[in-house]
Amino acid sequence: MTEPMVQTEKLDPDHAGIARAGALLRGGSLVAFPTETVYGLGADATNDHAVAAIYAAKGRPSFNPLIVHLPDAETAALYGQMGPNALKLAAAFWPGPLTMVLTRNPDQPVSKLVSAGLPSLAIRVPALPLAQDLLRAAGVPVAAPSANPSGQISPTRAEHVIAGLNGRIGAVLQGGACSVGVESTILDLTDDTPRLLRPGGISAEQIEDTLGAPLPKAQTQLKAPISPGLLASHYAPGAQVVLDQPARPDGALWLGFGPSCAGADMNLSEAGDLTEAAANLFEALHSLDARATEGQIIAVAPVPETGLGSAINDRLRRAAAPR
Ligand code: TXA
Ligand code: MG
Repeated sequence: MTEPMVQTEKLDPDHAGIARAGALLRGGSLVAFPTETVYGLGADATNDHAVAAIYAAKGRPSFNPLIVHLPDAETAALYGQMGPNALKLAAAFWPGPLTMVLTRNPDQPVSKLVSAGLPSLAIRVPALPLAQDLLRAAGVPVAAPSANPSGQISPTRAEHVIAGLNGRIGAVLQGGACSVGVESTILDLTDDTPRLLRPGGISAEQIEDTLGAPLPKAQTQLKAPISPGLLASHYAPGAQVVLDQPARPDGALWLGFGPSCAGADMNLSEAGDLTEAAANLFEALHSLDARATEGQIIAVAPVPETGLGSAINDRLRRAAAPR
């Protein structure tokens, strides 16, 4: 792209900035905003034109449905059908990094484009107070994918949003770094069997504890339509990424995890803490990608597959997938 199409406003996270961001959303503009997981690229979910503009700004294939963000569980129940499992999970994890795929209520104004023609709707109630303030100021349901160009790494700082989308969106609400750092867990609750569609900020173990039952194993999870964000190469940095490297390969940049990775270029968590590692993940990939010279690879140390580790490894495998 040559010329920016619009001047992207950089809004402060104060009363005036929140009010301006809310007004822009209501007026049909695109506004990037922080949540506890990653920055979202928001649009009024009831406005077909604004929702279509998200796909255009991201260059995202239009068959990929979007998550609707709402300020609380009571509002969520107006948009999607919340059965006993959904109510239990909402009580335990909302507000927070859990997205529930629910059957759409018939009488609600969300654009069909948001769910890309599916009879379901993905709904999330974010925990970050600034995100909730914005949703209340907007007064409309806000459809928001992660605020990155399609196929690139999710943004965990306002600077990442600007680097990817400056000139293509109306504004960014600048709220600092995201505390969770990986996207929400997505759970399909459209029938009696909950299915994990994407690992994320709430672990499968936490969900199983709350439901009092195990989630189906991977082979039985997938049912059409598959969550399209599960495309193998979906979080790709420019540099090639290789996984499970307990030591630095010759000439590579090395991303460590834990105390055994002395001399790594960056460490997701020197203490080996998975929560800290998730919060640092996309920032580390962004900054190593910026440092990598032509042809230099990014080698990543092994990360255990427990708790938040399964969301971290999921994103790392996508970053490393052939493309
Ligand atoms: O943490 C998050 O979830 C962030 C913040 C901004 O909320 N959002 C996010 O959105 O990660 P996005 O668009 O990058 O990923 C949403 C995923 C996609 O993989 C999409 O396919 C899936 O949700 N999805 C949305 N609606 C769905 C539906 N009705 N059925 C199945 N999958 C759905
Ligand atoms: Mg995304």
